[in-house]
Amino acid sequence: MGSKSVKERAVFATKFGAIATTVGSAVGLGNIWRFPYEAGAHGGGAFMICYIAFVLLIGVPLLCAEFAMGRGTHSNIFGAYRTLKPRQNWHIAGYIGIVASLMILSFYSVVAGWTVEYSISSAFGTLDFSSTATGHNQFLELTSGWRPVMWTVVFLLCNFAILIGGVTKGIERASNILMPLLFLLLAAFCVNSFTMPGFNEGITFLFNPDFSKITPSVLLGALGQAFFSLSLGLGCMMTYASYFNNRNRLGRTAVTTAFLDSMVAVLAGVIIFPAVFTFGISPEAGPTLVFEVLPYIFSRLAGGGVWSTLFFLLLFLASLTSTVSMSEISITYFCEEKGWSRAKATVVSSAIALVGGVLCALSFGPLGDFTVGGLTLFSLFDYVSSNICLPAGGLICSIFVGWFVDRRFLKSEFTDNGLFRFRMLKLLVFCLRWVCPIAIFLIFLNSVGAI
Ligand code: TRP
Repeated sequence: MGSKSVKERAVFATKFGAIATTVGSAVGLGNIWRFPYEAGAHGGGAFMICYIAFVLLIGVPLLCAEFAMGRGTHSNIFGAYRTLKPRQNWHIAGYIGIVASLMILSFYSVVAGWTVEYSISSAFGTLDFSSTATGHNQFLELTSGWRPVMWTVVFLLCNFAILIGGVTKGIERASNILMPLLFLLLAAFCVNSFTMPGFNEGITFLFNPDFSKITPSVLLGALGQAFFSLSLGLGCMMTYASYFNNRNRLGRTAVTTAFLDSMVAVLAGVIIFPAVFTFGISPEAGPTLVFEVLPYIFSRLAGGGVWSTLFFLLLFLASLTSTVSMSEISITYFCEEKGWSRAKATVVSSAIALVGGVLCALSFGPLGDFTVGGLTLFSLFDYVSSNICLPAGGLICSIFVGWFVDRRFLKSEFTDNGLFRFRMLKLLVFCLRWVCPIAIFLIFLNSVGAI
């Protein structure tokens, strides 16, 4: 029961490795698939400005809070709350984390399954670039029937294989190479965007905020996206920080992670929206947007099939580094709180995700008519976890660290035990005490009528 000592837990080998791994968790489908479709559905620039504001005002302070709790206690979310305030019930936040992480894992695996389908179809030349001009919906063709279900299962099996092998070695090594590579590829596509006839229109849509479009649902959507993209609110970053060593400037790591993560999202936007306007696709297409637009982009490139294969392969791998991190939440719970073996914990978590994943995959086909409040199972899982559970988990965490955690604990975490100065502590505590809880609370309140 409870948290284990430092020695028993794995530790990331290098500082670069620790950053690459947290960035590996943060960067994934959230940036490249979810950000463009949410931005498109919520008015572009209006969404963007709210999103950036929330990353700075809420995301960075909460990343700091999760890092400090995780590294300071060397424990999962349950152990972290309990070590800092024994005999109180703060660790209830951990249950939100487990439920939401399994929901996210379910729908995320479906989209990751699409990336497998797309990279294989591109490699074998069956992703038909020539027909994109005739306007038929390639996405529907590739993702109808049982194939997406199969790819969801394949993806979850890959996830399972990595998890069974333990976190630090494989993930750290893979992230060190993958993240920079993905970044380069995105930068290259971004340059390509400049040549699109719809470039100006796309960029204006994304960066020119129309303040009259900032509605409660835009605010809630942007808040959910900021949490989702930074892997916040469920103790995911807390668990990863518990693998940090004692020389790891937490404040800097938080800022670097948030910066790189937002950069990737903005790059994705710059890639997608010029194409959206060039090819006359509606920016409000929803979860299928990116998968409809990307083939058009590749169709204009020499060697489109090769680019496409490489891109979807990297996206698949980036998704894996994210799903591994969200799986860790339930696995560390079963291992460290329930005393299960890692193998048993991994099998049980993966089995739950498998059932959820198959249901979500079917919601694009046979289960499409099954809706709750107008949302299919896939969208429902996404909405409830991202827009409700993540901000709720963040609300609890900010109140806890801002008001209840000993200031000396925070000081020693942010200065690596007095090794250097950390001038932002006051500002950080102010954000955690006031800005984060009030902002999250108001957005929740505001959107009660907006759902
Ligand atoms: N941040 C990841 C992405 O953008 C998704 C993710 C990984 C996540 N771990 C998480 C989201 C924990 C919420 C909570 O793709």
